[in-house]
Amino acid sequence: MAMKIAVLTGGGDCPGLNGAIKWVTKTALDPKLVKKRSVTFEVVGVMNGWKGLVDVDPDDAESCTRHLLHLDEEVVRTWDRYGGTNLGTSRTNPFNPRNDRSDKLFENIKKLGIDVIVAIGGEDTLGVAHKLYTLGLKTVGIPKTIDNDLAGTEYSLGFDTAVNVIMEEIDRLRTTAGSHSRIFVVETMGRHAGWLALHGGECSGAYIILIPEYPFDIDHVCELLQEREGKEIRYSIIVVSEGAKPKGMTEFVKDTKIDDFGHQSLGGIARFVADEIEKKTGLESRYVILSHLQRGGSPSAHDRLMARWFGVAAIDMIIDEDFGRMASLVRGEITSIPLKEVVTKGLKIVDIDKHYDTERYNGRRSIL
Ligand code: F6P
Repeated sequence: MAMKIAVLTGGGDCPGLNGAIKWVTKTALDPKLVKKRSVTFEVVGVMNGWKGLVDVDPDDAESCTRHLLHLDEEVVRTWDRYGGTNLGTSRTNPFNPRNDRSDKLFENIKKLGIDVIVAIGGEDTLGVAHKLYTLGLKTVGIPKTIDNDLAGTEYSLGFDTAVNVIMEEIDRLRTTAGSHSRIFVVETMGRHAGWLALHGGECSGAYIILIPEYPFDIDHVCELLQEREGKEIRYSIIVVSEGAKPKGMTEFVKDTKIDDFGHQSLGGIARFVADEIEKKTGLESRYVILSHLQRGGSPSAHDRLMARWFGVAAIDMIIDEDFGRMASLVRGEITSIPLKEVVTKGLKIVDIDKHYDTERYNGRRSIL
């Protein structure tokens, strides 16, 4: 009998998810590989992450059609070209202590005859996958988060496309910033880790980059801008991570809402920085919050490639019975690491000594 794989995407969407689903499906069902294996597979997509597995009523055909999607090579053929996730996503936590629905989750997995779950997500989605594994279920993970802050992997899906969006938008801002001789403050995502702001800012040649790992002094930002005055430079670009904070202050939050995993939505730091600069220096400043534009659009070549490799690796793990693990990139090679490591090690944040120039508030100028 075929082993039933359920694949789902959870947390914030990003380009690369559809590619990972495609390659999980194609690799599982590949007719040439099937002949060489002692096991055959069936693949089903779960709609809207863990929510789909909790909400589905396995005894109701209409509910199953709404929450589950049969996947085969024909269904997923073109998916890798498209951003977002065709399976939908949610931030549902079945183990949320305020609304624990894990019993229903277990019951549904059993009733649906699911043998193994491929969870594509960040720390929260993979945290659930790890918990399920510790409770006796077979799970494997694929890393995704545009923040690229998951422990145990050098790469998480979505990061490269997001960095490209940041770069393209900054290129666009430069012409208008130059015409008006203005300062532009660009806010990127990056809740706890500054990788998006740092890499986005470095590849765009931003003058100042502010990241969560190094609380900044607004007076020093102003001094750096004033150092440029009188030179041929007509404008400056500052990139700031949504999680960056001025010394002695906390992160800027959008509202008081808290999601199932206990997170608040961050945002607003760019406005603070622009306003303070104008107040303290008189330099005309504007701000742009890139927000979800960074997660939109089609995946970059790198995200398509990594999605493919991670998808193939997930099936390798299943065949090798390496459950409770996540596909990962370590020293440039695809491998796998225990989900336990991903969830217990803490996030992979920017190492200030190694990657950041605390004088210039920018990327390092000495690498070797
Ligand atoms: O975790 C990825 C991320 O893109 C963060 O950088 C950001 O803080 C968050 O998701 C935004 O989430 P939402 O889509 O729920 O607004």
